[in-house]
Amino acid sequence: MAHIIWSNDLSVGIEIIDSQHKRIVDYLNELDDARLKHSRDVVGGVIEDLIDYTQSHFGFEETLMEEAGYPYVNAHKKIHELFIRRINEYHDRFKLGDDVTEELHRTLTNWLVNHIKREDNDYSSVVQVHTARGKVDLEPETSGWLGGALKRFFGKRK
Ligand SMILES: [Fe+2]
Repeated sequence: MAHIIWSNDLSVGIEIIDSQHKRIVDYLNELDDARLKHSRDVVGGVIEDLIDYTQSHFGFEETLMEEAGYPYVNAHKKIHELFIRRINEYHDRFKLGDDVTEELHRTLTNWLVNHIKREDNDYSSVVQVHTARGKVDLEPETSGWLGGALKRFFGKRK
């Protein structure tokens, strides 16, 4: 499967979320590279990083939705939970020796693209309205919650 090229139709219009989605796309491309090189160790490492980063991203996204008072946050959280469960299942199969990489790559790619275009775009308009009204502050210099949320979810990484 080819690399995913980021394009503007994947943008949700929120810079910080777009940059996290781009990082997930990078991981998926890394997974594809590792698969082609047939290095099982590298594939395993990328799957672990991907799960870890995606969990951090979901946590951050959920906090942002809550901050904005997005009404469907619980439904969105359920979708995230199901997704994490699904990647973990792939990871378990991988650890048992199954060659899941191609299927995992395809599933994650399709899921991510659809999720960004549908569910993420749906909360994005609400967050943008609240940002414009000054209720959600996404400026790192002035925002109280943003730095805390980034540290909480991505702290060990940056
Ligand atoms: Fe999401």
